[in-house]
Amino acid sequence: MAINICPSILSCDPANFADPVREMDQAGVDWIHLDVMDGQFVPPITFGADLAKSLGQDTNVPMEAHLMTLTPDAHFDAFIQAGCKRIIFHAEVHHHAHRLCQTLRSKGVLAGVAINPGTPVQMLEPVVDVMDLALVMTVNPGWGGQKFIESCIDKVRAIRALRPDLPIQVDGGVDPTTIKRLYDAGATDFVTGSYLMKAPSIAEGVSKLRSACG
Ligand code: DX5
Ligand code: ZN
Repeated sequence: MAINICPSILSCDPANFADPVREMDQAGVDWIHLDVMDGQFVPPITFGADLAKSLGQDTNVPMEAHLMTLTPDAHFDAFIQAGCKRIIFHAEVHHHAHRLCQTLRSKGVLAGVAINPGTPVQMLEPVVDVMDLALVMTVNPGWGGQKFIESCIDKVRAIRALRPDLPIQVDGGVDPTTIKRLYDAGATDFVTGSYLMKAPSIAEGVSKLRSACG
């Protein structure tokens, strides 16, 4: 399957998201990943749909919202209206993941379901046929720049075995040393935050990630 590079803006200077987003666009990335945190599901608070709407004017790359929020469905419409084409919510926060996937699809966007490092793959099994993306967190959500959790690679392999055609995203600690093992395990979509911000340029970082997959 094709590789999608999905830079997160979480490690950018919050006073200036627009310039790095333009640079990501120029570097030919596949998705712009927006980490939305509500201060409840995870301690930090980041930003809401207004930022997505504004950044949509700086890029033609599709945007996705990773909702680290306790009430994700309360924000679906706002992020869809802001231009996000893929909405990812956490399996841990809602009793009705199946219904939420159907809701997102009925609104014309792709439905993603995320699991934390401490959440088993079994949580996704009953909904694997109604989702468009599984997101395996490879760090605990809330902060950029954390150490990659090796044991999460097995979860990617397990989801790949459940559905061979499903896009599988990994998020946290993705860099040229970890990406190859994730790719070999079956991951297709790679969120990357702090690695890209520390790279000599976003374009160079993106190219190193792509070539590391071989
Ligand atoms: C963490 C976020 C990630 C984060 C990844 O809660 O979901 O998207 O930005 O950052 P790095 O690539 O620095 O691990
Ligand atoms: Zn994320």
